[in-house]
Amino acid sequence: MPVNEFRKNAKIIDNFLTKYLKKQINSGLIIPMKYGILNGGKKIRSTIIINTGKIFNLKIDQLLNVCAAVECIHSYSLIHDDLPCMDDDKIRRGKPSAHIKFGESTAVLAGNSLLTLGFEILSEKNFLIKDEKKNRLIKTLSLCSGHSGIAGGQQLDLSFEKKSKSLNQILNMQRKKTGKLFNFCCYAPTLIASREKKEIKFMSELGEEIGLLFQISDDLLDLKGSQKKTGKPTKQDQKKGKSTLIRLIGEEKTLSYALKLKLDIIRKLNRYGKKANSLKETVNFILERNF
Ligand code: IPE
Ligand code: IPE
Ligand code: MG
Ligand code: MG
Ligand code: MG
Repeated sequence: MPVNEFRKNAKIIDNFLTKYLKKQINSGLIIPMKYGILNGGKKIRSTIIINTGKIFNLKIDQLLNVCAAVECIHSYSLIHDDLPCMDDDKIRRGKPSAHIKFGESTAVLAGNSLLTLGFEILSEKNFLIKDEKKNRLIKTLSLCSGHSGIAGGQQLDLSFEKKSKSLNQILNMQRKKTGKLFNFCCYAPTLIASREKKEIKFMSELGEEIGLLFQISDDLLDLKGSQKKTGKPTKQDQKKGKSTLIRLIGEEKTLSYALKLKLDIIRKLNRYGKKANSLKETVNFILERNF
């Protein structure tokens, strides 16, 4: 069951991060940073990294720095996403959002610090891959996080509120705010395994489609899910006038779009035979989940 696998992987990554944070100087931001990254969360991006690694015979140990870096960046993006100047949400992972717990300025700074910590973790000496690959990972993660990735997508998401946007504009925004980090999750193991350029591109694009599917399912959960399960307030997107596929084409057509996207991803993974089974299970879980 993917859920058990998520829990197992989350524990491994949380252990890595706990040890890593223990070695940092004890600044006033460590506690809010820990609050943002260690308090729950599915750590689905780590599972996708590990699942992709399985396709290329990589062990979890070879991917820990990549997983931890991605989770740092993801957690930073959530802390900032909840701020009053963005989605203004007070509950995250079943607890008060970081800015409610620690105040806005601390939340902003803890978010910034998690963002930079991600790059620190990737550039560690004891992350044993060649420097050339490490540089490429750092560069690609920068591209996926900044204005051409998460930050740029978040900016579009906010500027699209209460506006009428086309299908392609919405998909482009979702590919950036969520898809790009998933792109990196499939890119990194493929690069580490020294696969050919063409295959690295294929897996990166597939990762981005998985991320898009994940965002669409997050939007469906906002409509149909419960705060008890998701750990965050639901029915918020409509209230905020978010430009989602649901708002543009309705729930039913959004669900068909997502199903088609999912089948397309699974079909593309067939080329890897059994080695892709765990990644396929995770992709299936994305649409079936209720949290
Ligand atoms: C929520 O991400 C934000 C989106 C990109 C849709 P997750 O659903 O992965 O959040 P956690 O980490 O499990 O809380
Ligand atoms: C968030 O999308 C995407 C990010 C990159 C943070 P949402 O705003 O829909 O995420 P939730 O629903 O608050 O987790
Ligand atoms: Mg948002
Ligand atoms: Mg939000
Ligand atoms: Mg959402």
